[in-house]
Amino acid sequence: MDTIKLEEQVSTMTQFRKDILTGLQASPKFMQAKYFYDHQGDLLFQQIMKMDEYYLTNAEMDIFSNQSGDIADLIASENSPFDLIELGAGDATKSIHLLKELSQRKLEFSYLPIDISANVIRHLEEVLPKQLPGLDIKGLNGDYFKMLDKGISLSNRRKVVLFMGANIGNMDVEEANAFCSTLNAYLSKGDMLIIGFDLKKNPKQILAAYNDAQGITAAFNLNLLHRINRELGGDFNLQSFEHYACYDPDSGACKSYLISKKEQVVHLDEETAISFAAHEPIYMEISQKYSLPEIEAMARVTGFVGKHLFFDANKYFVDAVWIVD
Ligand SMILES: C[S@@+](CC[C@H](N)C(=O)[O-])C[C@H]1O[C@@H](n2cnc3c(N)ncnc32)[C@H](O)[C@@H]1O
Repeated sequence: MDTIKLEEQVSTMTQFRKDILTGLQASPKFMQAKYFYDHQGDLLFQQIMKMDEYYLTNAEMDIFSNQSGDIADLIASENSPFDLIELGAGDATKSIHLLKELSQRKLEFSYLPIDISANVIRHLEEVLPKQLPGLDIKGLNGDYFKMLDKGISLSNRRKVVLFMGANIGNMDVEEANAFCSTLNAYLSKGDMLIIGFDLKKNPKQILAAYNDAQGITAAFNLNLLHRINRELGGDFNLQSFEHYACYDPDSGACKSYLISKKEQVVHLDEETAISFAAHEPIYMEISQKYSLPEIEAMARVTGFVGKHLFFDANKYFVDAVWIVD
């Protein structure tokens, strides 16, 4: 391994430790969702996407498998080369429909998937050129804005940014507004953002998606404790924590927690001890749901103009197309 790669790994590890410590020493305790995705986390998330209860993936898949032609029409209407930047690309199983459509039309574009998971980027760079020969792909492994900064500086072409999978839902409304404003500041007038939102719907259906009967979501959350044990030398006993999810239909916030089953002390290393009271929660993740007026308001206050809304057949989910004003 070369020195720069090693330094990058050490700095990623130091940041991971810092963020986990900040969260565990806060009151109430929390962890950052971006750390879910180690190798095992990627695999568990793929299982979540296949669960019957997790309607989100099928809904957005419905949009991309049936309406990628219309999405490509919107992108191509500008009639100039572009960079397609995907934030949090994952395994690109949905965006591949759009990539196929754009490639078939022989449009001049580069695909720049960004993901915090090195496994994901390695996988995409290996697999996509086989599925789409001639695809110009450059993977960017790291945090959204750090990599966006790098990606944007690669060319002067117009940008089309994809932010799918309701990743925006993993921020509360205030954070999501700040995120979209920052994104807007990186882009130029006329650039396009295609952004997925899970819509407010039957609260029972929403809660079931984050509290599945098989316990895969629970395993996904608990995996972060396992990652802390492995990578930071922690001694979390996974049996002593349990997954808890709740949905507030008023605010649209679906939150998941790990609850300490008893009073206990967990060590991150020899010097760092974290005390838990019985039933104390660690706030793990938010999955925020939106109404259409709330989505429209977000576009407006963050410097975009709404151009089009793509719905799945059940109207569970929407991919909104916004243009930088
Ligand atoms: C919920 S998955 C969605 C994947 C894909 N977009 C889809 O719709 O199927 C979220 C992806 O975003 C990545 N991710 C999460 N937080 C990130 C961050 N702060 N910076 C870069 N990537 C991130 C994860 O590694 C994961 O692959």
